[in-house]
Amino acid sequence: MNTLGEDARNHGTAVGLSVDQITINGGKPLRGRIELKGAKNLVTKAMVAAVLGETPSVLKDVPNISDVRIVRGLLEVHGVRVVEGLEEGELIFDPSNVESAHFADIDAHAGSSRIPILFCGPLLHRLGEAFIPDLGGCRIGDRPIDFHLEVLRKFGAIVEKLPSGIRMSAPNGLKGAKVELPYPSVGATEQVLLTAVRAEGITELKGAAIEPEIMDLINILQKMGAIITVDTDRVIRIEGVERLDGYTHRALFDRNEAASWASAALATDGDIFVGGARQSEMLTFLNVFRKVGGQFEIHDDGIRFWHPGTPLNPVFIETDVHPGFMTDWQQPLVVALTQAHGVSIVHETVYEQRFGFVDALVEMGAEIQVHKDCLGGQACRFGQRNFQHSAIISGPRKLHGADIEVPDLRGGFSHLIAALSAEGPSTVSNVGIIARGYENFIGKLQQLGADFVLEG
Ligand code: EPU
Repeated sequence: MNTLGEDARNHGTAVGLSVDQITINGGKPLRGRIELKGAKNLVTKAMVAAVLGETPSVLKDVPNISDVRIVRGLLEVHGVRVVEGLEEGELIFDPSNVESAHFADIDAHAGSSRIPILFCGPLLHRLGEAFIPDLGGCRIGDRPIDFHLEVLRKFGAIVEKLPSGIRMSAPNGLKGAKVELPYPSVGATEQVLLTAVRAEGITELKGAAIEPEIMDLINILQKMGAIITVDTDRVIRIEGVERLDGYTHRALFDRNEAASWASAALATDGDIFVGGARQSEMLTFLNVFRKVGGQFEIHDDGIRFWHPGTPLNPVFIETDVHPGFMTDWQQPLVVALTQAHGVSIVHETVYEQRFGFVDALVEMGAEIQVHKDCLGGQACRFGQRNFQHSAIISGPRKLHGADIEVPDLRGGFSHLIAALSAEGPSTVSNVGIIARGYENFIGKLQQLGADFVLEG
């Protein structure tokens, strides 16, 4: 098995998923109700924030996914005690004995995650030093960490690149800084927040990302004692404080998972009630879902998504930072677009290589061409740079079963959707990687009436 496969298997087994392959008998509408927990992209950062507190923190609605296991392991190697609370999905973090960890231990626990970079600010405050191994994450582009390192240097950190990773130290403490991001990066914005809250003086961040997961992280930091102002035009101001305490917080729902199941409902002619989904964080997705021809109903406890039985419409989508159409929504929706009557265009402007997953869809009968040009909308950072970052999807095309291999988290979920909507059996391998971000997706497929067999 290749490295990606081993990685996927490790992720899968970490959350009790002993299978690596699933054979799906497609063509059956998914119907029923599933429940969401907290957003992967908030929960993992909230866990890191607990390191900043002098007292324990309580996080609710933590999903049982392998990315959470990884961050838990990283917290534990740094001396944070992590225990389960009384409520399902509740974790309690006690950071009173935070300590330095060995490079090898951090490396072993980090796996393919990119989270270690976010430990830097909190650990520099607590211990005066931090190490980060080579970072992984989904292979959807180059994913550099230059913004992060530049930000940390501005706060006064000394960054040393070693053969096995990066060592940081802050012998004179960290001081507030004026920072302007070249692109509203989610991770770099979180880096600034997690570092500035306890840096001496005021930090002004221009060009910040303002995704709902970032706003929820700000909620958490405010509960801990931080002073953070969100101005207009992507400016965030943070007044450093000397002490932060623990927090008690229920995590924001996972809107990426919600959009994934919504797309699955559309692609399989199904009807799925996504418990815990909320309208306001999904406005942009809901607009596109409606334009494609999908129907939805907003309820107090979730959103129902379904295919109304009438032909789907082609659309033009340009992925963007919030409040634009999230890059993480693109991959699952593309599967539904293979069934729209006409030509859809998707211009990916956040990651330069997020269309690798379409090869499998083409093998299954979809008509999709990827291009290097910025199609349909404005020129983006990836134009003229040899990246296949625009897709033309012509439909409708009947999908037929095939043997396919999961490439990355969202691409993997798209493959599941394709297999579920295709005629005949498909074997999807490397499914363990999906457990990085989708809690109990096998159980949810069962609940929704999917016809499949698991293989070890
Ligand atoms: N970038 C740089 N330099 C940096 C940091 C980012 O050039 O130092 C570039 C990236 O290469 C990318 C763009 O900036 O082209 C945006 O990256 P960003 O930093 O916003 O992404 P991230 O923080 O690494 C998070 C989510 C992603 C999600 C993006 C965008 C987590 C753990 N990951 O990544 O989620 O797609 O924000 O919203 O929060 C996923 O859940 O499948 C996933 C990939």
